Amino acid sequence: MKQSEINFKKLWKIVTKNKVRINSHIHGPEHWARVERNGLYICEKNGADKEIIKLFALFHDSMRLNDGRDIEHGLRGAEYAKSLLNKEYELAEDKFELLYYACQYHSIRRPTEDKTIGTCWDADRLDLRRVGIKPDEKYLYSDAAKIVAREQKWNELNTFKVTFPLTSFFKKWWNL
Ligand SMILES: [Fe+2]
Ligand SMILES: [Fe+2]
Repeated sequence: MKQSEINFKKLWKIVTKNKVRINSHIHGPEHWARVERNGLYICEKNGADKEIIKLFALFHDSMRLNDGRDIEHGLRGAEYAKSLLNKEYELAEDKFELLYYACQYHSIRRPTEDKTIGTCWDADRLDLRRVGIKPDEKYLYSDAAKIVAREQKWNELNTFKVTFPLTSFFKKWWNL
């Protein structure tokens, strides 16, 4: 059976309106948007799965309760993605397993050989600069992300479009 295409615009609306989500510039939607952008940049180079990257960007920090220690937020984000599956979006079972794993373990790293999971985690890590941390390539998985970190190619990331309907204020503020 053919799956219908994911309506990301609708999904972003649902997840950003979720009352329990954190309203913070560190772990809130502006961060998710940059994670999507970073992930799509890496995808262009390594052919990882774009749908999973976009879903990861949206869900991975969607259930964070604070900007401090919240070790279970990845699992809660994964469960939230599961609760909307087949209701608000469709995804093949094997792809959903990757999404779930990527969300669940994004802050408690586990080894992975999977290109798409590595790309999700790299996309998140490349945004560490928002809190003044320069991403270290030894914690990155993909060659594309390693090159960005090593050669300081941050401007290349800015050329990628994001789903989140950013206001001009955020665009200016966050250099998107
Ligand atoms: Fe996180
Ligand atoms: Fe994140």
